[in-house]
Amino acid sequence: MTSATKPGRKSPLGALVVMAGTLLAAQDCAALDVLAAQGLSRQSGCLECHSVYQKKNGPAWKDVAAKYHGEAAASEKLYKHLTTGRKAKFDDGHEENHPIVKTSDPKRIQNLVDWILALPVAAPVDVGSAEKLAQQSRCMKCHAVDVAKEGPAWKDVAAKYLGNVGAEDKLYLHVTTGRKAKFADGHEESHPIVKTSDRDRINNLVNWILSLK
Ligand code: HEC
Ligand code: HEC
Repeated sequence: MTSATKPGRKSPLGALVVMAGTLLAAQDCAALDVLAAQGLSRQSGCLECHSVYQKKNGPAWKDVAAKYHGEAAASEKLYKHLTTGRKAKFDDGHEENHPIVKTSDPKRIQNLVDWILALPVAAPVDVGSAEKLAQQSRCMKCHAVDVAKEGPAWKDVAAKYLGNVGAEDKLYLHVTTGRKAKFADGHEESHPIVKTSDRDRINNLVNWILSLK
């Protein structure tokens, strides 16, 4: 499960890449090749500025999908966006050419477009694996998805970070570094860290938490 990500480079989609394929196969989403789409987006450097769930320099791709939902020309429009390098406007107001995909294979490009437009359904986190890691790491002693225990309900954590730039990185650090956590009764102790060093599994857990509603 580690091989999809280059060591040392944090890929927010790493876990999804590995797992989404299996899930999709199970869901029988015929034409869409999620692994290929995510591979192409990584290879093309898209993940420097984009992630599925969070806004970075560029919009979260699930928000792009929402924006274009039901729009007939969406596919054509995005295809053009990803192949022509038209000017893109950044939040700080500057403009630069939007990068284009590093392939000229129309099938691969169309597949990436279809995947983005199908989000977030086409990028399921591997819930089973996330829950298992949380169990193994004894997170559920203090957390639950829906209700606050000693720690906050994870769906409230997701709500708090919704649309927050860098949320993935922040939570990744939170669950790997053991910084001090403040408890309701006022005492502080080191927050437990996850019991794995597998980046893909950790990213998957973080993405799962951030996707909770
Ligand atoms: C240097 C940062 C950067 C990189 C790298 C980047 N993008 Fe973007 N992208 C942006 C910004 C900023 C926007 C929003 C502004 C705009 O569309 O004018 C955007 C918008 C988009 C949109 C939405 C377009 C729309 O019509 O709403 C999609 C889809 C997208 N990018 C896909 C990709 C893909 C695929 C790649 C890799 C080939 C990529 N981006 C690489 C910064 C980037
Ligand atoms: C001993 C109780 C305890 C355990 C065990 C625990 N946490 Fe927490 N967690 C807390 C408390 C308390 C907070 C809120 C205070 C804080 O973040 O300073 C918190 C906050 C969080 C947050 C929100 C951080 C933020 O920036 O808002 C996340 C995500 C989280 N925990 C994940 C985990 C994961 C994953 C595990 C298992 C590796 C875990 N926790 C184990 C007590 C715990």
